[in-house]
Amino acid sequence: NDHFYQIAIDGPAGAGKSTIAKLLSTNLAFTYIDTGAMYRAITYKILKQNVLLDNEHAMIALANQTEITIKNGRIFLDQEDVTELIRSEKVTKGVSIVASVKEIREEMVRLQKRISQHSHVVMDGRDIGTVVLSKADLKVFLTASVKERARRRFEEMREQEPDLQLQAIEEQIRQRDFVDENREHDPLTPANDAVHIDSTSLSIHEVVEKITQLFCEKIKKNPADE
Ligand code: CDP
Ligand code: CDP
Repeated sequence: NDHFYQIAIDGPAGAGKSTIAKLLSTNLAFTYIDTGAMYRAITYKILKQNVLLDNEHAMIALANQTEITIKNGRIFLDQEDVTELIRSEKVTKGVSIVASVKEIREEMVRLQKRISQHSHVVMDGRDIGTVVLSKADLKVFLTASVKERARRRFEEMREQEPDLQLQAIEEQIRQRDFVDENREHDPLTPANDAVHIDSTSLSIHEVVEKITQLFCEKIKKNPADE
């Protein structure tokens, strides 16, 4: 009767979730699952097929005919590697609308739960502690000020998109957070039992250390082989 460990990391855009989750998963030899990438992949397909973002019916139909898989840190949409394609500004702008559709969320949550049944996982997203891994061994709600999160994104994207303005990124982040926090189904909100970490003035290393320590304390209290 194996117990697989689960670490859930939620929080707003640019808080450092994926960077930290990736490092944690490497250090602990756990599987990393980027749930945001899954919503981005379905959004990419919807946009590519020219389905309008106000046509819920068509979006759901398309999602039902879509296969999303994750392998070695790469994300595949109907067998095509879309790891880089899903990071475009167009996808970033549309993804929160797609992610607010109940039926699409249900499909993604089902897939995410299934993936986590077979290995120890670090999963990041918006509803991981509240919905997907509601019994996770450790839940972290990672935040940072919106100015700092915008600055981080700006630094990241400067090379690929030199015309992008810091101000515009901050505005996009605010809008996306607003939609994610206020949608009807599984909004972005901390789980009751989540540990809050504000990373505004912490380094990546400091955040990883902190979470590793929290996890070690947890599993000392509740060993897997009880
Ligand atoms: O990395 P970044 O913070 O830009 O976003 P992401 O994690 O790739 O997620 C993109 C979008 O997907 C979010 O803004 C949410 O609208 C949606 N999402 C969600 O609704 N639930 C999740 N578990 C993960 C992402
Ligand atoms: O996944 P999420 O949108 O929460 O954030 P991310 O994609 O991991 O982006 C965060 C960016 O901020 C990355 O470029 C990190 O190198 C940087 N950063 C961080 O994640 N954590 C810190 N404490 C400091 C910087």
